[in-house]
Amino acid sequence: MKKRVYSGIRATGRLHLGNYLGALKGMLALQDKYECIFSVVDLHTITVPYDPNTLKESVREIILDYLAVGLDPDKCYLEIQSKVPQHVELAYLLSTIYPVSRLEDLPTYKDKKAQYPKYVNMGLLYYPVLMAADVLLYKGELVPVGIDQEPHLEVMREIARKFNSMFGQTFPEPQRFKTEGEYVPSLTGKGKMSKSVEGSFITITDDFKTIRERLAAAPTDSGTEGGDLPKDSPVANLFTLLKLFVSDDVYKKFEQDYKEGDIRYVELKNVLAESIYKELKPIQDKRKEFLNNEKLVDEIIAEGIRKCTQMAEETIKEVREKMGFIY
Ligand code: TYM
Repeated sequence: MKKRVYSGIRATGRLHLGNYLGALKGMLALQDKYECIFSVVDLHTITVPYDPNTLKESVREIILDYLAVGLDPDKCYLEIQSKVPQHVELAYLLSTIYPVSRLEDLPTYKDKKAQYPKYVNMGLLYYPVLMAADVLLYKGELVPVGIDQEPHLEVMREIARKFNSMFGQTFPEPQRFKTEGEYVPSLTGKGKMSKSVEGSFITITDDFKTIRERLAAAPTDSGTEGGDLPKDSPVANLFTLLKLFVSDDVYKKFEQDYKEGDIRYVELKNVLAESIYKELKPIQDKRKEFLNNEKLVDEIIAEGIRKCTQMAEETIKEVREKMGFIY
């Protein structure tokens, strides 16, 4: 049997280069080899403030992004998490074997608590358990996600181990599938690229002008210092992005310029903007095709949900039985 792969993205707006390089590229690499399920995790989306009036549209946008980047419904199943209710059932069952204290300690929970102090809800605390259920529901072994998700993968493995030791071997211990862009830095020069930080991101649907503007706003230094590339600074972030989008030769040329105190950031940003746009343009064209073919997209979604429900039911039946729900 082919290994199973699962990944999901929240419907929190347009996908950015962090999502693209950290998650989507991994999904694309795996769809040819394994049985893959790629989801829009709408139940995770609602753990932070959201607008119920636009949820449907936001979910659809991610499905379109998935198809546009090249996820192929002939090779993988596209899922909308809430349409497969077994996720919630499994999450509840798994929550009974996992300590609350461990969840309270997770960095992602602490970050969100600090970000939305008036929105500290049970769902937020429960988030990693639901995420574990997402993957374990399909007995997923590989999870293409960015490095920021590693603590959640750790929880997933702990839950799998605990379940197996209490009720018998059932789940694999899922591993993260790493991509070259597992950590895409913010354009602001601080931290990672993130949808919730204005000025930090470029989305995959940005046009050339917008990409240039966003890069133009990214801070640099005077360009005359020379010496080794800095490790943790706005300039370091620009070079990290550069490495992800240009050839080795082009990268080395700018690195050399920097070392010699001769770097021209306008030139670097222009080259970077062109390279990013060159990669995104075919994606944007493909997205328009799917946007104009609603019926096809509806069919792809329906088929994904049908198949996922079948697979999910198999696992949940096994779990119910092992946990003693045999009446
Ligand atoms: P989400 O929606 O926050 O992010 C989606 C994916 O994008 C990656 N990512 C990044 N990668 C590199 N650099 C960045 N700056 C960057 N920003 C975001 C994330 O690592 C992620 O892969 N918890 C998940 C959603 C989820 C899930 C799952 C994922 C729910 N259930 C089951 C895998 C399996 C999340 O918050 O993703």
